[in-house]
Amino acid sequence: MDKIKIVGGHPLFGKVFISGAKNTALPIICASLLTDEPVTIKNIPFLADITSLNNLLLQIGTKIEAEEEFLNGHKTQKITYHTPKPTSLVAPYDYVRKMRASYYVLGPLLAKYGHVELSLPGGCAIGARPMDIHLTSLEQMGAHIEIKNGYVIADIEGRLKGAHVSFHAASVGATCNILMAATLAEGTTIIENAAKEPEIADLISMLNAMGANIEGANTSTLTIHGVEKLHGITHQIINDRIEAGSYAVAAAITKGRLELINANAEYLQTPLDILRKMGVKIEVTDNSIIVDAQNTTLHGEDIYTDYYPGFPTDLQAQFMALMCVSEGAALVTENIWENRFMHVPELMRMGANINVHGHASAIVRGVEKLSAAPVMSTDLRASFALILAGLVAEGETIVNRVYHLDRGYEHLEEKFKAVGAEIERIKESD
Ligand code: EPZ
Repeated sequence: MDKIKIVGGHPLFGKVFISGAKNTALPIICASLLTDEPVTIKNIPFLADITSLNNLLLQIGTKIEAEEEFLNGHKTQKITYHTPKPTSLVAPYDYVRKMRASYYVLGPLLAKYGHVELSLPGGCAIGARPMDIHLTSLEQMGAHIEIKNGYVIADIEGRLKGAHVSFHAASVGATCNILMAATLAEGTTIIENAAKEPEIADLISMLNAMGANIEGANTSTLTIHGVEKLHGITHQIINDRIEAGSYAVAAAITKGRLELINANAEYLQTPLDILRKMGVKIEVTDNSIIVDAQNTTLHGEDIYTDYYPGFPTDLQAQFMALMCVSEGAALVTENIWENRFMHVPELMRMGANINVHGHASAIVRGVEKLSAAPVMSTDLRASFALILAGLVAEGETIVNRVYHLDRGYEHLEEKFKAVGAEIERIKESD
């Protein structure tokens, strides 16, 4: 497996192009299954998770055509998905195991074709990751659901029926799945306690362009008036707020200055406020965020992860790395996932001073220096946090299990190298 080597101590300066959003691309690609016409999606990032989802769609019978293009100075891809007649309504274990977001085929295939078999994703490193909200909501909409041999087998007679569903947690995944399913249901569906993450608003704007009738974007109550048919469109996905937030921390931790091109500050208000309180200068322009931490002493700030617009759990590990080398103490509380502190023992091996209390909170006391070490992590964001720590540690840090990073950070070494980091990939064969 590839590794990443980083020699710490270089402040980062320059421009980082922020890519299309992974967590928006995944449901939006699956929304293409709701129509038998071609759907073209622009600004799709070059990521392993996209390749995994494309492989699943290929086995469902989708025709996929990808083309490279430049958008605002950044190389990206435009992909056309066309599913005139699926050859399979099964999402097998091998695909779902590799990428949990494969579960986004559930709502679209069931609504359009009346049957789907989805391998249950099961738990993962960050938590149990249940699917109860997806399944009970579909049952309320008239689906017959059975769990057999590790698969969810869902059927409907005729069309799904509009229903009033209320989520016990504002789940991003369930909101996307039920939204997509409800577009083709008979009658009106109301989702209460829906997620309000920007990826949901982007999905709604795409579905409405395809002919759906959805009201309530950016609020926690969504009303979907079902229609009989959706049609093909071209849609450009938003940029990745979590990637932008991750590079913002890279500027702060190295006491450098980065301009994050194509980043949208509106999606990052809570994390940017934390950076400002810590002493980082943030400037927002029409299409970029400038993060400047030169000649600043940073002070630790408490963070508490929450549903959007709260502090995103997907930036918790990166901010914790920053707190490790900021003055004073910071309380980090993880409120979304029950097991998302796997980076703590690795950061401590690099000299961080962290005390975990229970499974949800950790006190980080800033230290003057971290020292390099071989480290590894079991999830994407935690792996980026270790890269951040490596950027300021004394010596040469080796981050193992790079495939996590390849799932969610496009051209990571190239982006870091271009702004002055001493970083390289060590190929398995080297
Ligand atoms: C999405 O996961 C993201 N993944 C995650 O990002 C992110 O951490 C998470 O949302 C929260 O923002 C994708 O978009 C592909 P949820 P998702 O359903 O949709 C509970 C990354 O690093 N819940 O919003 O799977 C659940 O246990 C990844 O890119 C239920 O109880 O998360 C959790 O506490 C990691 N029952 C909370 O809701 C359900 O049926 C939020 O989960 C579903 C969820």
